[in-house]
Amino acid sequence: MIEKSLADAVAFPGIPETTLIRAMRYTLLLPGKRLRPLLTLLACEACGGSVDDALPAACAVEMVHAFSLIHDDLPCMDDDDLRRGKATNHVVFGEAQALLAGDALLSFAFEVLSHDAGSKPAPQVQKNLSPEIALVCTRELAMATMSMIEGQSLDMEGFGGHPSPEQIEGMERQKTGALIVASLRMGGIVTGASEEQLAALSEYGWRLGLAFQILDDLLDVEGSEKETGKRVGKDVEKGKRTSPSIFGVEQSRKRIEQLIAQACDSMKPFEKCAGALISLAESMREKRR
Ligand code: IPE
Ligand code: IPE
Ligand code: MG
Ligand code: MG
Ligand code: MG
Repeated sequence: MIEKSLADAVAFPGIPETTLIRAMRYTLLLPGKRLRPLLTLLACEACGGSVDDALPAACAVEMVHAFSLIHDDLPCMDDDDLRRGKATNHVVFGEAQALLAGDALLSFAFEVLSHDAGSKPAPQVQKNLSPEIALVCTRELAMATMSMIEGQSLDMEGFGGHPSPEQIEGMERQKTGALIVASLRMGGIVTGASEEQLAALSEYGWRLGLAFQILDDLLDVEGSEKETGKRVGKDVEKGKRTSPSIFGVEQSRKRIEQLIAQACDSMKPFEKCAGALISLAESMREKRR
């Protein structure tokens, strides 16, 4: 469902093919894990909703994520040439077009989220949100995107080379956790979830999101290019301050275990309805890409 909705969203039938459209489509449709849209759909189901209602939010968050990846790979940021197993956007389309493709995906995400809210379904999504729900989701996604960008800014700055443990975790929560939390909350919001349910989804998301980024940092140390579809050893090369660089590999693994257990604990208010979210958190232990 996610793959089809994303492809439909950037099909733009009747519109002439341009470099910008090709560059947007390129990174968005490469085989990502689709973790964030999946979380949106699973949160929606956990709250008793129908996944169709969550698809616009699921597509929107994956577009924001794709924007963040294109910009993260630029020479002025992490300077990477491999993403999702293929050449990075700027390697294929040039820096200017990659920058613009990121800008366009970020803007278009909010179009998809709010497209014809309250009226008949748009061609690129199966169902539309009500204007009220679209507005709450828009704010949720906008604030999370701001937080992700702030995290990226801190990552680039590197805390003058001497971050405290709290600063490292804070940065990892912002650059990766915030968008994961918003993915889950939007899945809940489209169902009219209670404050208690949204709070539980947030708690799960902060824990899962931090574990996910620490795992990403560990894979940069211990993973393979073939499995991750990205260059490895880049964080050390760039002098990035990450969990394994500050706490070591063993401590980072322990922290991940603790976070996965805490994430599963956060799902208690959902009782039996959160089985898929719990399994997903537990499957993080086997994350290789
Ligand atoms: C990569 O995200 C960037 C991080 C926040 C760690 P993913 O690991 O979800 O990348 P894709 O979407 O599967 O390519
Ligand atoms: C990226 O962190 C977080 C984003 C918001 C894109 P990384 O720089 O570690 O992500 P990868 O390893 O390049 O995917
Ligand atoms: Mg980065
Ligand atoms: Mg990077
Ligand atoms: Mg990384």
